[in-house]
Amino acid sequence: MTEAITTTTAGDDLEALRRETEAALAAATDLRAWDAVRVATLGRNGRLTALLKGLAQVPAEQRRERGAALNRLKAELEAAIEARRAELEQAALAARLRAERLDVTLPPRPTAPGTAQDGGIHPISRTVEELTAIFGAMGFAVAEGPDIESDWHNFGALNIPEHHPARQDHDTFYLPPGPDGRRPVLRTHTSPVQIRTMLTQEPPIRAIVPGRTYRADHDATHSPMFHQVEGLVIDRAITLGHLKGCLIDFLRAFFGIRDLPVRFRASYFPFTEPSMEVDIGWNRRTGELGKGEDWLEILGSGMVHPKVLANCGLDPRVWQGFAFGMGIERIAMLKQGMTDLRPFFESDVRWLRHYRADPLSPPSLAEGV
Ligand code: PHE
Repeated sequence: MTEAITTTTAGDDLEALRRETEAALAAATDLRAWDAVRVATLGRNGRLTALLKGLAQVPAEQRRERGAALNRLKAELEAAIEARRAELEQAALAARLRAERLDVTLPPRPTAPGTAQDGGIHPISRTVEELTAIFGAMGFAVAEGPDIESDWHNFGALNIPEHHPARQDHDTFYLPPGPDGRRPVLRTHTSPVQIRTMLTQEPPIRAIVPGRTYRADHDATHSPMFHQVEGLVIDRAITLGHLKGCLIDFLRAFFGIRDLPVRFRASYFPFTEPSMEVDIGWNRRTGELGKGEDWLEILGSGMVHPKVLANCGLDPRVWQGFAFGMGIERIAMLKQGMTDLRPFFESDVRWLRHYRADPLSPPSLAEGV
């Protein structure tokens, strides 16, 4: 080797190394081949490294020129190797992007019935959608309130006195007392949202409140968690006639029976005066709605009690209104001809598949909800 160097004056060996390295780089089509070229050139036993080491043996009068040529070559080769690496990385990325390309414009594959993607709307949600569509068309907005309520919102402000049976432990789920010493409750009805709505909104008010409610009760027709929808209308000169017209229209639209018999029966709620239970006509034997001699209780209602208005800062001589509350499972069961409430919350996919609604066909008044 020493001999070769000493006999080379014009640096032919350097020129050969440059050409061969460039050819090898061009031939390297992936990063692994590229790395082999890099190691064979610049590595500890690489060809350029060997030439640099050999500089010591070069006669003194040639060393300076030779050293400068080697340094130029080294810089050139390092740049060429680096440039090739960038090229190959770019190509690898482009290939990967091509391979992993997703066509987001493809229509979804049809799903087999019963597979995980084959979703549906739970009958409770569907019922809420339906009643929201009907009351929405009458100008009602949807209001919401918390499931955990203060004693005052759930009872006190609604004129439910301390000794009322609804306050007994066997009906109400109580939580540990708060700073005021009072125990918060899981709301036993949606009526506390009447209070929250009147406290936060200026009348006129037309609101419905669908939501979860809780009572310590469990059998075929009672669940400790169930759903209600509250209704509240506050305006000047609201009468019992408005209440009756509104509820008759709603019940006939919801059950899809134009002449559904509706009966208003005097009743008692602490937060309405007068109060009425509302019944619809049905046949107890066959379960058919709108036919037969029997009556089925379906909801509670009444004119908002003056004390409740006053508790919310409204002057009962200026503002009147009506309120109602009904069980969502109950009206869903009647409409679908179900007899047992428990499957609503058991998540049995066979039941859900049977009673679910199509998510792509929301209820529409024009088609009859
Ligand atoms: N909150 C009553 C219940 O749960 C229903 C109701 C609401 C009655 C509004 C009258 C007015 O039974």
